[in-house]
Amino acid sequence: MKRILSAIMLISVLALASCGMESKSDIDKKVDELLSKMTLHEKVGQMNQLSGGAWLVDQAAKGEVGSILNCVDPAEINAVQKAAVEQSRLGIPILVSRDVIHGFRTIFPIPIGQAATFDPAIVEKGAHIAAVEATASGVRWTFSPMLDIARDPRWGRVAEGSGEDPYLDALMGVAMVKGYQGDDLSDPTSMAACIKHFVGYGAAEGGRDYNTTMISERSLRNTYFPAFKAAAEAGAATLMTSFNEIDGIPSTGNKWLLKDILRDEWGWDGMVVTDWNSAGEMIAHGFSRDLKHTAEQAINAGVDMDMMSYGFIQYVEELVKEGKVSEKEIDRAVRNILKLKFELGLFEHPYVDETASAKVDYAPEHLEAAKQCAIESAVLIKNNGVLPLAGAKTILVTGPLADAPHEQMGTWAFDGQKEHTLTPLAALRQEYDVIWEPGLDYSRDKDRSDFAKVRIAASRADAAVVFVGEEAILSGEAHSLSKLNLQGAQSELIAEVAKSGKPVVVVVIAGRPLTIERDLANCDAMLYSFHPGTMGGPALADLIKGKAVPSGKLPMTFLRDAGQAPFYYNHNNSGRPCNGTETLLDDIPMAAGQTSLGCTSYYLDTGYGPLFPFGYGLSYTSFEYGKPVVENAELGRDDVLRVSFDLKNTGKYEGTEVAQLYVQDKVGSVVRPVRELKRFERVNLAPGESRKVTFELPVAELAFWNFDMEYVVEPGDFRLWVAGDSASGTPIDFVVK
Ligand code: NOJ
Repeated sequence: MKRILSAIMLISVLALASCGMESKSDIDKKVDELLSKMTLHEKVGQMNQLSGGAWLVDQAAKGEVGSILNCVDPAEINAVQKAAVEQSRLGIPILVSRDVIHGFRTIFPIPIGQAATFDPAIVEKGAHIAAVEATASGVRWTFSPMLDIARDPRWGRVAEGSGEDPYLDALMGVAMVKGYQGDDLSDPTSMAACIKHFVGYGAAEGGRDYNTTMISERSLRNTYFPAFKAAAEAGAATLMTSFNEIDGIPSTGNKWLLKDILRDEWGWDGMVVTDWNSAGEMIAHGFSRDLKHTAEQAINAGVDMDMMSYGFIQYVEELVKEGKVSEKEIDRAVRNILKLKFELGLFEHPYVDETASAKVDYAPEHLEAAKQCAIESAVLIKNNGVLPLAGAKTILVTGPLADAPHEQMGTWAFDGQKEHTLTPLAALRQEYDVIWEPGLDYSRDKDRSDFAKVRIAASRADAAVVFVGEEAILSGEAHSLSKLNLQGAQSELIAEVAKSGKPVVVVVIAGRPLTIERDLANCDAMLYSFHPGTMGGPALADLIKGKAVPSGKLPMTFLRDAGQAPFYYNHNNSGRPCNGTETLLDDIPMAAGQTSLGCTSYYLDTGYGPLFPFGYGLSYTSFEYGKPVVENAELGRDDVLRVSFDLKNTGKYEGTEVAQLYVQDKVGSVVRPVRELKRFERVNLAPGESRKVTFELPVAELAFWNFDMEYVVEPGDFRLWVAGDSASGTPIDFVVK
């Protein structure tokens, strides 16, 4: 028996060695050994993350920096690394990090656009490509994915996440983690992921970045935690705290979040980093007295590494001497940091090959995948039949986003180079005789003096394509907006083109859902493309020409007016839900009586509904959903719900439909959302083809945090919908006993 066991152990060791992985316990031993040799000063050095490159050499040599961010020059990275590895007393390598958010050189659509694909496989591929390119420049740690649930398009960072739905958010987050990290972190092309911002950052009041949030524990657990938990379980190596406070406690100083939930409840053993100076900012919050106090609170709350507050490096030794922070806490933090460095194989391979990036940046297969992702991410939100423009020969191309290589990359495209970006104008010139008349220079431009030229050009064309939207700078961090209409004179430009009487196609290239209701009225078709990245041009040209068929679906509710925000499909019902008979402003008689309007939950001016619901998106073809059949409408808590339906392509194009399954728990010990996305599938069908689709949903996935704050499935009545968006489908009842 003993011999068999030893043989099994030997085989396991050999297997791990052959794929380059070290076992957990081997790494733990190495960490303990190294930790035992470290002085307190050296430990604190590991907990210090600084922004910069070559000028950090001296600090690296003294062992006073554990990680750097914002340096992507391989030669500089090697210089800092050399100082750490060859000059510092213990030779601990530096961990090089960067915000690689939606691609490194080859820029993929912004994350909200990637979410619109409803295709975790292409998202995982994009993250893998980002890792291949970034690691070739020496970056082994990215601050992505951002998992913040975003229900308010005024918040500029909706661009960086997967939108409003916890299930979609979790799937996309897990896909990114897998793509960045691969199966083996020690592979030199793998990059540690960082799930951020823990937590609730997207719920900033009024959509104003960094603002206070008020989120109940139940809502955290039911809505804001799930994507983090899923990504943590998928092995995300690191986690970043958030800038915001929840109920008066800044995340960076929140022990309940960072210890009780993350470590004790979820059992996650990765490394926690602060956001940029989020420790220091606890002073402005009024939670800490001074920088020294911030370090004490952050470390005791569970933070391992400090990004750019300088508080740890300045005060931790004093705090330990004064007994305000224990060495045990310090060892915990340093252990997590060293463990990651060992897992990444940095001790064996600290340096980057300075010639590597030239071989992988913008590789043809990277560009091909970026194009595919951009195609899948575009959402067709209106089409009266003009798209695709298959028969047109001469087209007018106009608008400030038609030839804006920097802007179409979107926010957080630090390392994408606009010289490599292919714009819609360039790509459409390969397909059509193009008359190019920009009309406006940039999205905020109000100068209409070129409009006459645009109108004349339109009269000479078979059709007009107007590219409007937002410049990259208008979304992303600290770029909140209170108005969500198209900026500048863009709506007027669309209206001007519409006067030509020619078919008008509008393509919106933006970082968030904008309020485009009035623009819809002035066009025949509209494609919505969240900043589509390097290959946005060819992707959109293929869609316009009909070489590709739109399949994207909205990952956020589209509003009619910014005043409706926050607005999301999976909300709780009020006691007075809208019933569709509400009176709007123009129909209210003079001297109307106080209670004459029906007293339901709506706006007198915009009514109730969104412009487009979550999950919505058209195709050039059409799909017919057959009546769903529920295999077993009475289920036990260990059963699996199975619902099948026929999906038929009833149009003329081959196309892909994202079929969606929604569920409602009709009565709960606490109010449950009106619908929740539980499954989806991209189904590709030839014209006339029909396929049986089956969704399987374990009843266990109907669990939620109930009145007693327990995660349970409550027996009772449920209903489900199978549909192409969150507002369609016929409800079908089922029961959980
Ligand atoms: C602040 C941002 O909130 C965070 O997402 C980012 O990763 C860091 N800065 C580092 O650049």
